[in-house]
Amino acid sequence: MRTVITTSEEKAAEFIKRGGLAAFPTETVYGLGASAFNENAVERIFEAKRRPTDNPLIAHVGSVGQIAEVASQITENARRFIDAFFPGPLTIVLKKTEQIPLAATAGLDTIGVRMPRHSAAREFLKACGTPVVAPSANLSGRPSPTTWEAVFEDLNGRIDCILQGETTEIGLESTVVDCTKDAPMVLRLGAVSVEDLRAVVPLTGIYESTGDEEPRSPGLKHKHYSPRAKVILTIEDIHDAHSAAYIGLAVPDAEFKLIKLCSSIEDYARSVFEFFRECDRRGIEVIYCEPVDCDGIGVALMDRLKRAAAR
Ligand code: TXA
Ligand code: MG
Repeated sequence: MRTVITTSEEKAAEFIKRGGLAAFPTETVYGLGASAFNENAVERIFEAKRRPTDNPLIAHVGSVGQIAEVASQITENARRFIDAFFPGPLTIVLKKTEQIPLAATAGLDTIGVRMPRHSAAREFLKACGTPVVAPSANLSGRPSPTTWEAVFEDLNGRIDCILQGETTEIGLESTVVDCTKDAPMVLRLGAVSVEDLRAVVPLTGIYESTGDEEPRSPGLKHKHYSPRAKVILTIEDIHDAHSAAYIGLAVPDAEFKLIKLCSSIEDYARSVFEFFRECDRRGIEVIYCEPVDCDGIGVALMDRLKRAAAR
């Protein structure tokens, strides 16, 4: 399959309307979209990404009005979060409508709903005229793509189209919050912090897996965010710097083979997945990452770094 690369939102939307797959930029990471109601197209997403079929997709909407096409009921708490954070980097899990094929939700009766604020994403969704289900546009298990080139690297020849955009602004995936129960539950940390959510609904909890039961967010049980290289979360006692890479805010003592000095925690969050990919391209085997303070985007960043290091 030839993958068309375009800067035209309308052209990319044509592929969605014809049942194809198009990758598109958002403020978090690039997504790989298909029409939410086209079962065949939805199944092709899983093939293209080699994604386990038990990991559900997020439905992206271009307007608040469109939420009713994918969610059968908007709970009171969901309504509050929508008013406060849409459009933006927040995904809300709600009961799905019958029109959403079970393939999209991995058999669940719920669906994640997100309205991106990125202008090209919004133009694209408007032109599609339908909700678009989209996971991150990487091969399953690889770091999420923050540039269109990273999408190309993983999916060229496997999808119909890539809508070209800039490097994504946030660089980490959206916060996921389950609003189907009385108390909202955060399933994945992102740029919208737990404190942000609690300012709107004080009862909001954070899901922590005990390892025993089925994870509330099926994606949590899959390997994520990992480069091929080994990730180590420290900047102390480093003896193999000459063959290793480093990313962080502090200037390291040692001479690393590859180094990314970040100007802020935001810059670190925005840069980390692309840095992981660059290390893989260069065959680097060990990446040292500076741990950061757990506030603001630092909480989500530490979550991803720990997952990458836990492999
Ligand atoms: O920022 C983002 O969320 C990006 C952009 C493209 O919007 N998308 C993204 O999708 O990161 P993905 O598929 O890579 O991650 C979706 C996460 C997974 O952990 C999945 O298990 C969880 O959301 N999820 C999706 N639907 C769910 C549901 N119905 N119930 C619980 N968790 C769900
Ligand atoms: Mg993903």
